[in-house]
Amino acid sequence: MSNRQSEIGVLGLGVMGAALTLNLADQSFRIAVYNRDSGREIGTVSNFLAGNASQTNILGFTDLKDFVSNLERPRKIIVMISASAVDAVLADLLPLLDADDIILDAGNSHFKETETRQALCSKSKIEFIGCGVSGGERGARFGPSIIPGGSPIAFSAVEPYLKSIAAKDKNGSPCMSYVGKGSAGHFVKMVHNGIEYVEMQLLAELYQLLRGSWSNERISELLESWNGGELHSYLLEITSNILIKKEGDSYLLDQILDKAGNKGTGSWSSISALELGSDNSMMSAAVFARYLSSQKETRVRLNLPNREKSDSEIEIPSLKNAYDAARRLNHLQGFELIRLASNEFSWDINFSELARIWTNGCIIRSALMEEVSERFKTAPSLLEDKEYISELGDLENALSESVQDFVQHRIASPAFSSSWNYWIGLTTANGSANLIQAQRDYFGAHTYQRVDDPNGAAHHTNWEE
Ligand code: 6PG
Repeated sequence: MSNRQSEIGVLGLGVMGAALTLNLADQSFRIAVYNRDSGREIGTVSNFLAGNASQTNILGFTDLKDFVSNLERPRKIIVMISASAVDAVLADLLPLLDADDIILDAGNSHFKETETRQALCSKSKIEFIGCGVSGGERGARFGPSIIPGGSPIAFSAVEPYLKSIAAKDKNGSPCMSYVGKGSAGHFVKMVHNGIEYVEMQLLAELYQLLRGSWSNERISELLESWNGGELHSYLLEITSNILIKKEGDSYLLDQILDKAGNKGTGSWSSISALELGSDNSMMSAAVFARYLSSQKETRVRLNLPNREKSDSEIEIPSLKNAYDAARRLNHLQGFELIRLASNEFSWDINFSELARIWTNGCIIRSALMEEVSERFKTAPSLLEDKEYISELGDLENALSESVQDFVQHRIASPAFSSSWNYWIGLTTANGSANLIQAQRDYFGAHTYQRVDDPNGAAHHTNWEE
């Protein structure tokens, strides 16, 4: 083995770690990789090196101490392992590191754990960057969207590497940008996934509405035609492809059990929305839809038939506009959640830049994301963007008609329906919360504010007097 020192290390040679390593290798960096050599991971490093023998700039290690010693100081180590294994790896790694070394956690870790790890590392003057990486295996290999957060000084040390492996936007700029201090990177990546859950759920609901009377080919063609215009998105594109993938004579999709899994980021986003007081009903609806999907046995036992349908009953132009409206509301809710967190934790996130780095490489890349990035150049929030809101107003009828289509066909539409409810609630000046306040005051003396008291003072009534 060569004695040369490596400028950057990758710890963890799973699918994503291996892909990131090869991406770094393509940029001619000198890389050290580490993976443990035990249990099911025996041979991981040697197999990886053998499979990529032409990449002479990668050195492989199965001894953590040797791996660390091989890195130039200050050391830069990208940790790409499952979120549940990060603490155990840190416990082994920290005693081997020196002050100013940098650990970059590129997995989907919970942002609160990232904060705890940053505090732990800072005791040894070690920098810990929580970094979102989106784009799946292909993205990691050929250009992901990269969302780092943490100390700006540590970021500047890893910036050249992240920049060169990231996807490029339409102007050729890297889809990588420092988002903020502390756990901002992992928080923002978590919300990215929450938005992703909704984008996927909306497409699943469309599919369910149409599949009763339409062939997979026909649905695929419809989605493909939408994808050619302003609704263009990566998820729309892959869904159109998925619909027509065959296995022998049958569609592969028809052979897949309708039970959706999850690794947690969608529910973490929803919990954060509840904690921060943000209405992210679409995100939580998408998470709950996955949970309900996994109750397969119960659904089979309680099954009731869907209503008879004919395709002439489904208003396709309305459905297209409803999909547009629901996606716009999803992005509005997602970015609002990030805005609340940015204010709460003083992250000072640049939203136009954040949306820009999501225009390529990541799973939620789309024409709408390009538009949102432009809008954030002048509007502090999509809620403040008059044109964005007015377009939603123009799409309201279509959204209402499509929600009715779902109801009439007895097709569940948690994401579409919650987008409609959110939109109507958002644009209703006089809601019903006066009654909620009266009820709270009646049974719990929680007080209420009065419309005829502009000072907003707390009032209480003895309701049974
Ligand atoms: C991405 C993806 C990626 C992964 C998530 C979602 O941005 O590349 O979001 O991070 O697909 O883990 O996973 P679940 O659907 O399993 O929660």
